[in-house]
Amino acid sequence: MDADLHDRLDELQRDPYPLYARARSAEGLTYVPELDSWLVARDADVREVLRRPEDFSSANALRPDVMPAPAALAVLGGGFGGRPVVVTADGALHQELRAPIVRGLSPARVGAVVPYAAERAAALVDDFVKNGEGGRVELMSAYAGRLPGEVIGRLVGFDPDDVPALVHGGRRAEQLLFRPMAEAEQIAAAEDVVATAHLLDAFVRARHADPREDLGTELIASVAGPDAAAELTLDQRHQVVAHLQNLLIAGHLTTTALIGTTVLHLLRDRRQWELLCAEPERIPAAIEEAARYDTALQGFRRVTTRPVTLAGTELPAGTPVFLAFAGANRDASRHPRPDDFDIARPSGSRHLSFGLGTHTCPGSQLAREQLRVTLELLTSRLPGLRLAEGQRITMRPTLIHRSPERLELLW
Ligand code: HEM
Repeated sequence: MDADLHDRLDELQRDPYPLYARARSAEGLTYVPELDSWLVARDADVREVLRRPEDFSSANALRPDVMPAPAALAVLGGGFGGRPVVVTADGALHQELRAPIVRGLSPARVGAVVPYAAERAAALVDDFVKNGEGGRVELMSAYAGRLPGEVIGRLVGFDPDDVPALVHGGRRAEQLLFRPMAEAEQIAAAEDVVATAHLLDAFVRARHADPREDLGTELIASVAGPDAAAELTLDQRHQVVAHLQNLLIAGHLTTTALIGTTVLHLLRDRRQWELLCAEPERIPAAIEEAARYDTALQGFRRVTTRPVTLAGTELPAGTPVFLAFAGANRDASRHPRPDDFDIARPSGSRHLSFGLGTHTCPGSQLAREQLRVTLELLTSRLPGLRLAEGQRITMRPTLIHRSPERLELLW
């Protein structure tokens, strides 16, 4: 990718909404060179693709925006993982890989982790209130970047001491695959990813020897098969590590992002924050509106498995499309006044922030619970919360974890 294309990709990632608006009003689909894909941005078209997984494969869902240099790929090749994962699988393999994740994120399992989430959320707020000089905090680093990792760590069964390193590894994988970096930086990121994979492998072996009631055990059992007592083969260890790497990226960075954007938009329009403080029963509606308005996972790719026509555009087999959940969520045909953030919006116009159909997000309840815990805590303990004046809020340059880079708050 040349430098000019990099710059345009960066700009697009930081504010993709004008592009979606153009694509929604254009005839047919719009080809976007920066994404190397046809953009699908209307609600009806995104739904159609999600309902036709046999025609639109997920094989390229995690295709990097930026292909790492051969030297970085060589470092990754020496690590663990590199096996099929649920989000890029289709058909029977997809069902097989998804089943243990759905079991591990069942309503009962999620319900059981909520008290821990509430306890950790309160402890993080206590910490920043105690240490926040002059009633000030940078929310992304002090809170939003921490709670989801701790919660998913608990569900999977990680040692809490390992969670910061695992969160760091997830961020490095994201940087490596989605950000342009110099080769030396890419190699350093790849080394971090490999180190994280070894940490995950150590967890897999320990948990196989000592199974528990957690998502980690569920994933291991699904890979180990009927002879659970037998030692895991190297290939099986690779499979579980790949599962865990995928789950970590899918699970915590997205939730971190949504916490950041939710608080940002509520405080940008303080009347909505004040309404929420006065009427906390509106919290579930506020979460749905924030998820719709500034979708954390803006979109994922699909690739056609045969020639298809979508919105009048003919796509030969093997054509990549970028499925913009966030574009669909601003489609006026489903969401009146789509560009207004309004927590009092009548409910029922379902957004696509957690996808739809076979790949629909199995972690949505967990994410929503963490948002609920967060908003209950902040509205009750810090109703005077406001954006620090004079800060320039920039969004992170990514289409998969959209969030403010930093969020300076006062109370
Ligand atoms: C705000 C938070 C979250 C958002 C916005 C989000 C969004 C999504 C979306 C849109 C998809 C569908 C992707 C597609 O169709 O290709 C998805 C899939 C997935 N999500 Fe989430 N997610 C969130 C949180 C979580 C959490 C907390 C977990 C796990 C603990 C999780 C695990 C997954 C997994 C494993 C998949 C792949 C499912 C499959 O391919 O069958 N997500 N997520």
